[in-house]
Amino acid sequence: MSKTSENTIDFLVEPGGRLSGKLRVPGDKSISHRSVMLGSLAEGVTEVSGLLEGEDVLATLEAFRAMGVDATGPDNGRLVINGVGLHGLRTPNRTLDMGNSGTAMRLMSGILAGQDFDTELTGDASLTRRPMNRVADPLRTMGAEIDTAEGGRPPLRIRGGRKLNGITYDMPVASAQVKSALLLAGMYAEGETTVTEPAPTRDHTERMLRGFGYPVVKKGSVSSLEGGGRLKACNIDVPADISSAAFFLVGASIAPDSDLVLEHVGINPTRIGVLHILQDMGADITLGNERTIGGEPVADIHVRSAQLKGIHIPEDQVPLAIDEFPVLFVAAACAAGTTVLTGARELRVKESDRIAVMAEGLKRLGVAVQETEDGIIIKGGSIGGGEVDSHDDHRIAMAFAIAGLRASGPITILDCRNVNTSFPNFVSLAHEAGLRIRQAG
Ligand code: S3P
Repeated sequence: MSKTSENTIDFLVEPGGRLSGKLRVPGDKSISHRSVMLGSLAEGVTEVSGLLEGEDVLATLEAFRAMGVDATGPDNGRLVINGVGLHGLRTPNRTLDMGNSGTAMRLMSGILAGQDFDTELTGDASLTRRPMNRVADPLRTMGAEIDTAEGGRPPLRIRGGRKLNGITYDMPVASAQVKSALLLAGMYAEGETTVTEPAPTRDHTERMLRGFGYPVVKKGSVSSLEGGGRLKACNIDVPADISSAAFFLVGASIAPDSDLVLEHVGINPTRIGVLHILQDMGADITLGNERTIGGEPVADIHVRSAQLKGIHIPEDQVPLAIDEFPVLFVAAACAAGTTVLTGARELRVKESDRIAVMAEGLKRLGVAVQETEDGIIIKGGSIGGGEVDSHDDHRIAMAFAIAGLRASGPITILDCRNVNTSFPNFVSLAHEAGLRIRQAG
């Protein structure tokens, strides 16, 4: 039964359909957050186009506005930011609410550790359950003073006026958020900050810092920068988010007779695990019109239906596809044979425990699934109709909506409001492309 609350949105998906046409999904969430952050801390006026106007990015923007940054927009993806410089932020008169966004909270903690005023960061029920010591511990080693709630959970209280020193840090988990938080704090630190990652993670921070004129040295798995530099305003064209495109890449692969082009999608090599995994599974995906825009590679992606096959997903692709697994599990449910995922424990600390929540929902739709500690085993076959709970996780909600393309009956997905965090026009765009979706509530 649907939970009845004024704020609840459920998705209702009728079975079948095919995806076709050309569409552009909204701007990349990771790049949008970083453009607001670096634009605010730069000297001069930064103009952003293609910004994701999702709740997560708006939370970051509101935090900077609360610290005295004047910005116009966003309007149709356009945001003009009057940067205040690295030392120009002012004491906010309220707790900064990062909503649902782990990226916002973790990256902001790196920036705020270097300010001369105190701040407090909080978030919604999901964010309040997520681990923050992965950033707080190394920031403390740099000299920051950060208090967390029990177990390293938010809220975070960050003491200003602390002198930071550069550190050399070997990250125990492959996390772009941790790497980015330390590099951002490193701009305020004395000496060099060096971060080594155990496996490649998204490198948008390093690329964008360079775009703003801040030197970053990258040698293999090691990124470093010197404190005391400056950011100079620049213009940013945010590509479409491959993590949002992923729903349509899977949808057009599994729905018979589909033929879809996704335009202007970011194909940064640290983000294209989803393309490699789907291609290994037999998907018909080709890239066209490849170009580089503002330091980020972009392409139009053409996808047609294909018979997918189950695979053992290579572990080196896991960090490169970390946000795409909910919908990749739907692809696996439609594939011939068994798909095995290992080395993906991180999925348990995302907006929800994505292994447990996807396993629960797929089972309710009649799919043979076995949860493992660090992954999942999915036996491909048929998908039934039924009611599943997104557990307030945007990517779970959209993944189950896509499952409707191959389901034998209608699927109701509960609690889909958080789709607004990353993909506010998902329902209308998906409907336009051919998904039989509507929303209730
Ligand atoms: C992100 C990094 C990833 C990803 C998240 C966005 C970023 O998290 O899951 O959605 O913008 O840096 P981790 O770095 O913690 O894996």
